[in-house]
Parts: sequence; C-alpha cells; structure tokens
Amino acid sequence: MTTIENLAGVPDAAEMSLLANELFPDLTEGVYGIPSDAQAVSVPESATPQATAPGSAVPVADVPGNSGEPFDWEHPFAYGGTTTDSWLGTVEEPSAPESQLVPGESTPALTYGAGDIPALPETKSTSYSPAVMSQSQAAANDRTIDAPTSLGGDSVQAGKKEDVNITSRDESIRIGSKTLAQIRRDFPILSERINGNPLVWLDNGATTQRPQAVIDRLSYYYEHENSNVHRGAHTLAARSTDAYENARDIVRDFIGAPSSEEIVFVRGTTEAINLVANAYVKPQLQPGDEIIVSILEHHANIVPWQLVCEETGAVLKVIPCDESGQLLLHEYEKLFTPRTKFVSVTHVSNVLGTVTPVEELIAIAHRHGVRILIDGAQSVAHIPVNVSALDADFFVFSGHKIFAPTGIGVVYGKKELLEAARPYHGGGNMIADVTFERTIYNPAPNKFEAGTGSIADAVGLGAALTYLSEIGMPCVYRWEHELLQYATKEMSRVKGLHFIGTALNKASVLSFKLDGYSDEEVGKRLDSYGIAVRTGHHCAQPVLRHFGYEGSVRPTLALYNSPDDIDVLVKVLKTFA
Ligand code: ALA
Repeated sequence: MTTIENLAGVPDAAEMSLLANELFPDLTEGVYGIPSDAQAVSVPESATPQATAPGSAVPVADVPGNSGEPFDWEHPFAYGGTTTDSWLGTVEEPSAPESQLVPGESTPALTYGAGDIPALPETKSTSYSPAVMSQSQAAANDRTIDAPTSLGGDSVQAGKKEDVNITSRDESIRIGSKTLAQIRRDFPILSERINGNPLVWLDNGATTQRPQAVIDRLSYYYEHENSNVHRGAHTLAARSTDAYENARDIVRDFIGAPSSEEIVFVRGTTEAINLVANAYVKPQLQPGDEIIVSILEHHANIVPWQLVCEETGAVLKVIPCDESGQLLLHEYEKLFTPRTKFVSVTHVSNVLGTVTPVEELIAIAHRHGVRILIDGAQSVAHIPVNVSALDADFFVFSGHKIFAPTGIGVVYGKKELLEAARPYHGGGNMIADVTFERTIYNPAPNKFEAGTGSIADAVGLGAALTYLSEIGMPCVYRWEHELLQYATKEMSRVKGLHFIGTALNKASVLSFKLDGYSDEEVGKRLDSYGIAVRTGHHCAQPVLRHFGYEGSVRPTLALYNSPDDIDVLVKVLKTFA
C-alpha cells in the first residue's frame, strides 16, 4: 500500500485516511469508481462534517461512485462541497484484471444504413497495458522539473506514446473503468514536451485535450464515411447521416434528454445562447420586459442578451453573489416581477469555479412561470448532468470543453419550446418546402440546423461522450472533486497566493492572484516549465471586477490531471517567493 503522504507530502494524510476509512469502510482506497460487486456503503451520521450544497439536504459524503448504488439524479449536484476532507488519503496498486485495464476494447460497434465498411480501427492506446508496466519504467517516467531550456522559444518534439508522464501514483488511482495512467495514455498530446519539460495541461477551462478515440473517430469518418447528411441516395450519404444521427442519440443519452429531437447541433455555447436568445426569447419581448442573468456569467451569456435588449427595449437584471462567489438565492427570487420573461444562468463559473445551485434556480424560475437556460460549458465535462431530472428548459454546451472537436456544440431544448421558437438561420436542410411565397420548416432539430454543419465534429463529440460514459461520469466527478481539494490545499501553501472564488461548491477552477507579480509574469514562468494555464479576464470581466480585479491566473482541471500536475504547479509557484 502506498500512501499519498509518501508521494505528495500531504501533511494530514493520516487524518484524511482515517476519515476516508470512516466514510467508506468497505472500499478499496484510491478507487474512484463503481466496483461491480461493491456493497452499498452506509455513512454513519457522525462520521463527517455533513456539508451540503446550498439548499440541499443531501450530505456531501453521499457522493456516488463507490457505493455501488445508482447515481442519484434527484440530487445530481448536491454533493460537490469542498468542506469535507479529502478522500485522497491512500492509494493501492490496481487490482483489476489486466483485461479490464486495456482501454478501447469496448468501443461500440457502429451500425450503418447501407453497405459494409471496414471496422473502426482500434485506438492506438490499446497496445498499452499499465498492468504490466515495470517499476523501473514507472520510475523512469516520474516527473522531474528541468530548468527551462528556453523562454518563449518552444522546441516541438513529437511525443511518443511511451513518453506520457505516468507515475506509479497514476497507476494506482482508478477512476471508474480505468486507471488514471490509462486515461493519461489515451491523450496523446500529454506526451508533448514544452520548453524542455513535460506538458502540464491546466487550461481545460479554455479547451480540453482530445483522446485517441476521438482523433481516430474523426480520421475514420473522413476515410470511410464523409458525405453531406440528410441529402443524397448514395451509400456515403447514408453512412454519414447514420454517424451524425447516432452522435445526436449519444448526446441525448449523455445528458438524459427525453428525445433526440431536442438535441440541436450548433458551433458551440456562444452560438447556442445566441440561438435561444434570438429564436425563442426575442420574439416574446416587449419594451420593459426583463431578462435575468447572474454576475458570474461569461460574456457569451451577457452580450447576446444585451443585443436582444437593445433591439426590443427589454432590460437585463443581474443575480448578485456573496463574497465566496456563490449566487444569492434570496436576491434572485427578489428579481422576479410580472415582466420577467427569461432566466439564463451558468452552471459553473469559468472564473471562480462556483457550481451554482441550478436545481433551485430552475425551480424558482418555474415557480414564477419563467423559462430558464443553463449554460453548461464549464460543467458538462466535470459534473454528471441530467436535464430531465433538473427540469432545465434549455441546456447548452461546447464540444471542445468535453474532449471533442472545436466547432461543435449543443442546444438541448424542451420539444415544445423548440417548436415554439422561430428558426435562427435560414437555408438548406431546415426546410420541408420552399416557394417564393412561403417556406415550411422542418421540425426541430433540423429547423435550427440550416446549411452544412460540422458533421465530422458532431461524430467526434459522440466519440468523446462515449469515452466519458465508459469511464463513468459520477466517477469523473468524484475524482476531480478530490483533485480540486488536493490542489486547493497545496496551492494555499504558496506564499502570497490568494484564491478568487471560494464557494463551498466548486468544480475544476483554481483562479488566483500572486502578490507582487502580474498574471502574465506568472503565466509566462509557468509556461517556461511546460505548465499551461490561462491568464487575463477569461471573457468574464463583470465578475472579476466585482472582486476588484481585471484578470487572474487560472489553472483548470480535467479528468486526466494527476496529483503530480498539481505538485509541479506548486513547485514552480514557490519559486516566486
Ligand atoms: N470560455 C473559455 C474560457 O473560460 C474560453 O477560457
């Protein structure tokens, strides 16, 4: 048994381990998954601080993942608090049979509408089995921080698969169906060296990296399926249409939507919000009507509303937050008037990491008879989402923030609302019949997909969501929660570092300021050691200004980040002292 204390220097590992044992006495420590034969875990009431998400009675300790119980969609976001101590107390060598450790083998067989085509190639990572990695190999791959070889002059060295930084700790952490080591090997770009050092990708809030399964799926599409969709009687048209519509079904299942007809492919979250603002909300607005957003919003969830307000005479109202960065529900409730026509709120703040109480936000809006959009750009890769359980009217997200290609995103909208909405763009694909006198539109989703969309990228999105589903989103959530706690603890030891955003319920984001240094200076020095973070205003100036800043340094996590990434980050940050 290896302890995290040995590996990472966590001073209170014993205490954390004790807590983990109390919470999960039946569990194998370090396993962030749902063992098929796991016993349901009973959590003693007195075992832990019973932190709850705002407005919820469900203790943080009830995080699904290891309990063997089904995910609790009734309370999908009620377990993300950061006040409990870490479960990252101890880890042990993976005990799963080797066959379970080989990624890619469960890639689902694809079905096509017409003709036989070659089978989808296995992802390259299937050749790797971490279960047989020797200790010396693991040690050789252990990360060391080299002095930067150059500042700014990046020498690109094409990474080989076996160069991915894997430590014995990564081999020991199981996240759902895979070990962290396997997951890291699935992302070829993690083998890049940047300025002479292994890449540490902590800019996941800006975009995530793509697994080999997505890269292979794109290649396969272009090699075997490429055609326009919904047009043509030929075989490739049938293949591409099947692949595209299969991706829509995968999105439906991933977010728990009742029907594929409620899934519209768009370019990304920005286009998604513009679509809802212009196609659904704007036609309903009169001068003096009101739209509610929150202070936490990205510009993509502010500017489209300002534009429709300018055009209609409606006004924007803003939900404030407390000093931790959590939205104030009682202030939100006060904003509703008979003129309130729509609410649009983020699920996770891209600057603060705050997980907003979306269940309550939705319930309150509905109590006032108002429809609500949830911006899931920063949540969907980190938190299990079920739009049916949430009763969200609209839920939008971008593919590139969930390991899929750029240029693809999703609007989920309730069927009756999509039916009520006007088309957003006019053109081919979205029509049933056109004369010069009138046009009859296709029903949703085609009504909103004018022209030729990003077909291959939609297929790639399907591959990304399949990849995540095979790991298990509740397990991903739980792992990232753990890592966020670890990072928060370690980074708070850096002299002069101040976090921006300290809500009880956070995901992925670790925005901070460092005394005496500009954000850019910090970002550049981190880059010189191969560490990528975002600096600047993060396209969310109002919330930063609310806290008195024009920018911040923002590391953001994703499932493939390891405790070693955090250790390297902290080590370099300590060089500023
Ligand atoms: N919205 C992205 C971010 O937060 C680009 O970085």
